[in-house]
Amino acid sequence: MSSSFRPRRSALYMPGSNQRALEKAKTLDVDCVLLDLEDAVAPDSKTVARDQVAAAVSAGGFGSREVVIRVNGPATPWGEEDLKAAVQANPDAILVPKVNTPADLQAIAHKLSVYGASNDLKLWAMMETPEAMLNAAAIGACGRDPEVRLSCFVMGTNDLAKETRARLTPGRAAMLPWLMTCVAAARAGGIDILDGVFNAFQDEEGFAAECAQGVDMGMDGKTLIHPKQIAPCHGAFSPTEEEVAWARKINAEFDLPENRSKGAIQVDGKMVERLHADMGKRVIAIADAIAARS
Ligand code: COA
Ligand code: MG
Repeated sequence: MSSSFRPRRSALYMPGSNQRALEKAKTLDVDCVLLDLEDAVAPDSKTVARDQVAAAVSAGGFGSREVVIRVNGPATPWGEEDLKAAVQANPDAILVPKVNTPADLQAIAHKLSVYGASNDLKLWAMMETPEAMLNAAAIGACGRDPEVRLSCFVMGTNDLAKETRARLTPGRAAMLPWLMTCVAAARAGGIDILDGVFNAFQDEEGFAAECAQGVDMGMDGKTLIHPKQIAPCHGAFSPTEEEVAWARKINAEFDLPENRSKGAIQVDGKMVERLHADMGKRVIAIADAIAARS
């Protein structure tokens, strides 16, 4: 698990049209960079953004950061050229906006093979439309189909609010059913899921509360819009020393010869089952992967 595990605690969006941000990304302690050609780029800047992002990704220099290009949708005037340029630049993944159905992803995956994409190139899906909320299970199931290459959901809460007219309030009461449906769909499909952005980047308290909520919901990490959100996000999504120590302890206990055939044991006065040891293995893998990065 630890060898292939990639921490995705933080994923920072930046407009592809902002050359300074693209350069700055290489210096930031962030797990993923989302180089955006879509919502953050005005129509007049679409071509410049595509060229800049393609050049930056081809040139490399992002170190251990996972590099993801968000393209414009296939129905837009820029979608096709974005996809071609992204395949050529060969990032870790291409993020597809406004996915409504499994067929949307299958069509993009087909184009990737036509354009000769490397086998390692993954697809990530924006979950941000009413249709996607209703089709979440079927879209998540694409994670089980190697031909579709789906490896991560990204919640697009701003678009979801716009399309549904639900409001983004503190605590996100109106969004919770959709967020949790998408968590279940991601897990059923065996893929990761990242929480939506928090727009008020000067509001540190509000941001911390939303990060904590994302952790509680089972999100693997959070999408971010500003570098100042990275450190508090890592604070929330990294396992604590106590969690890692406990995970190591219960796994060591189950490895003892006298416990090898037991399903439940007592550790420090608590009942511990093998499922807790398995959950602990994931905590250890995350902690090891973070330590290996820094
Ligand atoms: N990625 C990389 N660097 C960023 C950044 C980002 N998302 N946001 C800000 N920075 C950099 C700025 O370039 C600036 O760098 P400098 O000091 O070297 O010049 C520094 O961080 C401080 O920026 P600040 O002045 O606080 O913000 P700003 O007014 O320049 O930008 C936003 C504010 C919201 C426009 C900007 O953060 C942004 O574009 N965010 C991403 C938006 C996006 O991609 N949305 C799509 C998905 S929701
Ligand atoms: Mg959007």
